[in-house]
Amino acid sequence: MPTKAEKDKYSGTEIRDHEWDGIRELNTPLPKWWVYVFAATIIWSIGYFAFFPFLPGQGVGFFGKNQRIALSEDIAAAQAAQARFVDGIAAASYEEIQADAELFNFSITGGRAAFADNCAPCHGGGGAGRPGFPVLADDDWLWGGTVEEIAYSINHGIRNESPDSRFSEMPAFEGVLGDEEVDDIVAFVDSLSGLPHDADAAVRGATGYADNCASCHGDQGLGLRELGAPRLSDQIWLYSSNSEEIASQILRPKHGVMPAWQGRVNETTVKMLTLYVHSLGGGE
Ligand code: HEC
Ligand code: HEC
Repeated sequence: MPTKAEKDKYSGTEIRDHEWDGIRELNTPLPKWWVYVFAATIIWSIGYFAFFPFLPGQGVGFFGKNQRIALSEDIAAAQAAQARFVDGIAAASYEEIQADAELFNFSITGGRAAFADNCAPCHGGGGAGRPGFPVLADDDWLWGGTVEEIAYSINHGIRNESPDSRFSEMPAFEGVLGDEEVDDIVAFVDSLSGLPHDADAAVRGATGYADNCASCHGDQGLGLRELGAPRLSDQIWLYSSNSEEIASQILRPKHGVMPAWQGRVNETTVKMLTLYVHSLGGGE
């Protein structure tokens, strides 16, 4: 250990007595300006803490304010700024909102945010959909794509406990139709949307389809909105275009459930959600 601090011969700065494999360290002092600024921030923080408290239970500062009060004031100011739009949307019909660019834009922005919070977990971001959860951005609607019909679907939901819920049930044909009959009907369903299929089987399946399925899905597979029965003649599938899955839907049908949103979100939010969904591309 050196008794007297050794100096670096180039900079004249004191050398510390640490050494790592021959590498040694200068004891350069912190710049004065940096030390003063550092001290000033500590003094500032003490003052800030006293004037503008943030700890729970700390009460208010010298100006009668704390961060919680400031936040509530900011929220109240934001709500007051939005009140014109929110009240306007509550009072106006869908047509009136659609005709008013300001109200309409506000609805779409609000609807998009409410959709991301409440609907995207099932319907996907932007209503992109996934198996069992319909795409909301196309013009293929199970129950209907006018604003009134979309609002009804949102307010009351589908196959839930609410008394006004949309409801329908596809019968299970397990034990009713034989295996070959099911295969033939699947071939006919495949033929409706131009999927590869066995032509002879499809001809045989036409009768089984007419007898068992057409009442809901329509003679030509166009679907029936009163029952939420999907169109089978397009390329859009709620579940799957796979023949095995179509057979499984015939034998043991799946049924989509959607919660009712009336009461869960307020009326203005339902309106904004409706306009947003309607605007996604498939609105009628
Ligand atoms: C728990 C999952 C779930 C959530 C959350 C959900 N939905 Fe749905 N939604 C469904 C399912 C499943 C269907 C299809 C029901 C069926 O098979 O008939 C559906 C159907 C719909 C339909 C009818 C589509 C058509 O083709 O007619 C609309 C509109 C809709 N949802 C909008 C919304 C909106 C808006 C929200 C958010 C407020 C929402 N959904 C939240 C599951 C959900
Ligand atoms: C009482 C009405 C009803 C009858 C009869 C019925 N279905 Fe359905 N079917 C439905 C409904 C409703 C759905 C939609 C279920 C849902 O939304 O989850 C559906 C769904 C389907 C699907 C899924 C479509 C998709 O896009 O993924 C297929 C395939 C299908 N049915 C075929 C048939 C065939 C074949 C028959 C006759 C053997 C039949 N259905 C009889 C009401 C019916």
